[in-house]
Amino acid sequence: MVNSNVTIYTLPCLSDNYAYVVHNSASGTAAVVDVPEAGPLVDKISELNVPVTDIFLTHHHWDHIDGLPDLQAALTGSLSQAPARVIGAKADAHRLPTLDQAVSPGDRLTLCGIEGDIYDVSGHTLGHLALHLPSAKAVFTADSLMAMGCGRLFEGSAAQMWHSLQQLRALPQDTWVYSGHEYTASNMAFTHS
Ligand SMILES: [Fe+2]
Repeated sequence: MVNSNVTIYTLPCLSDNYAYVVHNSASGTAAVVDVPEAGPLVDKISELNVPVTDIFLTHHHWDHIDGLPDLQAALTGSLSQAPARVIGAKADAHRLPTLDQAVSPGDRLTLCGIEGDIYDVSGHTLGHLALHLPSAKAVFTADSLMAMGCGRLFEGSAAQMWHSLQQLRALPQDTWVYSGHEYTASNMAFTHS
């Protein structure tokens, strides 16, 4: 049974990135997944008019984290909210923005009142995390898994990426995948080639 209180908003950012706002109407709070840039997130949060309790960062690449200072400034400034908890990989804490909670694969935590499970999906980078929200039937895979493709292997091996994809494949069949980029057309062109 899917949690009908949860709505996930997909926000195009930069040239082909996605950021996400997870809104839990039961708790009256929201969480953010990745911050390529602040603007689209600030607009959506203003529209929803709910406090953001958590900001989850999937991996250290600039196009997933560089909007964080501006988002934090807007939350505590013009939006008059308390600071949101910033969550990211313990293994990557040295190259992520300052974390309020450093998590490891296998951890379970609560974001905006929703339970989430942490997976290691290394390959694109080492220390890349996926966030699975079982009650919302949602997994945030960022640059590990997109429509019709996976991310480039910048740091990890093909074997690591395959292990990561196998973990994601083992999630329930009705899980929605929320990825970090819109690469569908180019992935389709590649499959044709
Ligand atoms: Fe990336």
